[in-house]
Amino acid sequence: MIIAIDGPAASGKGTLARRLAAHFNLPHLDTGLLYRATARALLDQGAKLDDAEKAVSSARGLALLDFDEDRLRGREMGEAASVVAAIREVRAALIDMQRAFAARKNGAVLDGRDIGTVIAPDADVKIFVTASPEARAQRRALELRGRGEKVDYAAILEDIVKRDRRDSERADAPLKPAADAHVLDTTDLNVEAAFAAALAMVEAARV
Ligand code: CDP
Repeated sequence: MIIAIDGPAASGKGTLARRLAAHFNLPHLDTGLLYRATARALLDQGAKLDDAEKAVSSARGLALLDFDEDRLRGREMGEAASVVAAIREVRAALIDMQRAFAARKNGAVLDGRDIGTVIAPDADVKIFVTASPEARAQRRALELRGRGEKVDYAAILEDIVKRDRRDSERADAPLKPAADAHVLDTTDLNVEAAFAAALAMVEAARV
């Protein structure tokens, strides 16, 4: 079974994807980390984020990199990731490894922006997780503070609105629900309630 989870920044898709993967004993790929790691490789080389040639070789070399999640999850890298993610050739360079992951024997859970639309259009179930920008900014501020970053809510809300726009308006694989996705609005749901709702969607798709 392939479960595709998409949605905007801090919508809770990562938490849901991890919970669903654990529940069904499936491997999970957080595809945002691929773009974050590509951006980090560029910054580490002192290259510009819109240097398409270097961005593509960084994306191709990802297996060689150390996925230091702690640095990748920071605020700066989310923003940088969305800049490199808009480069068509970077997305192309990352497609095969994501499709190979989705094609694992018993299936997989992938989360990102274009899983249901581009990476796994034949997924058994597609969930588009969303929440109001304010709810997402609150969650992200809490998460980043928990990681020791000094952040203020207004700046995070601004980041989120800007990133939503960049991700939704890019020409290649823009953020949008697949036509056959179930939309799950988590604005007023806690983690448990969101998981229960997502589980019901998956169970319904399996029968
Ligand atoms: O956790 P959060 O939703 O903030 O970010 P993420 O999922 O790690 O993604 C970071 C950025 O990578 C996004 O803003 C997108 O621009 C890009 N991305 C993408 O274009 N396609 C994906 N499948 C996953 C992430």
